Amino acid sequence: MQLQPSRNLYVETYGCQMNVGDTEIVVSILQREGYVPTETLDNADVVLLNTCSIRDNAEQRIWGRLVELRRYRRRKRGMLVGVIGCMAERLKEELLQGEDAVDVVAGPDSYRDLPRLLAQGGGANTLLSSEETYAEILPVRKEGVGAYISIMRGCDNYCSYCVVPYTRGRERSRDPHTILREARELFDRGYREVTLLGQNVNSYKPDFPDLLRSVAEISPLLRVRFATSHPKDLSDKLIETIAEVPNICRSIHLPAQSGSTRMLERMNRKYTREHYLEIVDKIRKKLPDASISTDLIAGFSGETKEEHEETLSLMREVGFDSAYMFKYSERPGTLASRQMPDDIPDPVKTARLSEIIALQNELSAASNAKDVGKTFEILVEGVSKRSDAQLYGRTSQNKVVVFDRGGVRVGDYATVKVTGSSSATLKGVLRKNVQ
Ligand code: 5AD
Ligand code: SF4
Repeated sequence: MQLQPSRNLYVETYGCQMNVGDTEIVVSILQREGYVPTETLDNADVVLLNTCSIRDNAEQRIWGRLVELRRYRRRKRGMLVGVIGCMAERLKEELLQGEDAVDVVAGPDSYRDLPRLLAQGGGANTLLSSEETYAEILPVRKEGVGAYISIMRGCDNYCSYCVVPYTRGRERSRDPHTILREARELFDRGYREVTLLGQNVNSYKPDFPDLLRSVAEISPLLRVRFATSHPKDLSDKLIETIAEVPNICRSIHLPAQSGSTRMLERMNRKYTREHYLEIVDKIRKKLPDASISTDLIAGFSGETKEEHEETLSLMREVGFDSAYMFKYSERPGTLASRQMPDDIPDPVKTARLSEIIALQNELSAASNAKDVGKTFEILVEGVSKRSDAQLYGRTSQNKVVVFDRGGVRVGDYATVKVTGSSSATLKGVLRKNVQ
């Protein structure tokens, strides 16, 4: 092994917020070993792609990027290329083969092995663990207003369409003390919002509402958010905790996936349309000002026109404030790929997805229009992309409000009155600076 004075590390992150959090862990692990994080590919000695497998197009993007990196590498001798994350876990063999082969492959539970793999110039580790939570590793984050904290890893739900249980392994919770310590440190460094992350935070052990409350108790000036909630596990205690603690944000992400009970059964979601609507009712009663967002899949195996229309009617009935919407993409190895044909023609999936998106645009516009005239406390997050003279922040409901600067700074809380809206954002005027 050759001794290197310093090696520059460049990481590109694809996929979900869990991956963003994992990249911060990977940077922390490698920084301890002397690697220096860099913002550009140009002076990198090691390039890592932290990848996603959730849909086929996510993987196609990475294969495309690897072709570009191979060309680039011809000019940069000695540069190591690695693929980490979900796609590394799923496609280790393919990634190590042929002329596009990468040097290093590491799955989501083997990041502690990266220094060794890199030092020896290449290799693969895709062992999944039932214990690894990287609990004591302090993620390397850029300064900012908000940060994500991973509180658990893996997933045991086995939704029939989903690759995550295969790429991220068994569900395990991180020690609450390390989570609280991390949240406190973030607050002390000036962060004003943390988002607690897991595939299904409601099954956090020992208890998610207690954890949420403890994090919120760090300071009334710290906003706490969380994602994602599986409807089958959303408890009354969680709703009550949110209702009792003002700095837990009034925003619940509750992926429905479909509005049809038969589809939900085939998806192995373990709730019915009626059960989903009951949960929404409960939220509306106890948290009347909360926003509800969702994930929806168009064109899952066997979906009839009527079942697709049930998704549209569920959307109308709930009046989702926002949604992430996807075309079904069959993933090898999942229950659906083994037992349920991917039988909805692509143009039909596309048409259904377009209808879902068009309806959500209407619903988002309606939800935002209802806020006009109301006053909100927002956390100021940054300078508006459109104009330097404007800042933007978020309401507790997770809606973006753009407003003219005035005397407030990024990281402040401010009170704004909403004066206008579109399907994407709210426009407001500053009332007074809270703090
Ligand atoms: N095809 C399309 N969308 C999917 N999702 C998960 N797996 C698939 C798939 N195979 C969506 C779900 C999930 C979100 C993160 O991605 O809606 O909630
Ligand atoms: Fe995240 Fe799922 Fe993509 Fe993995 S496959 S990066 S868990 S969205």
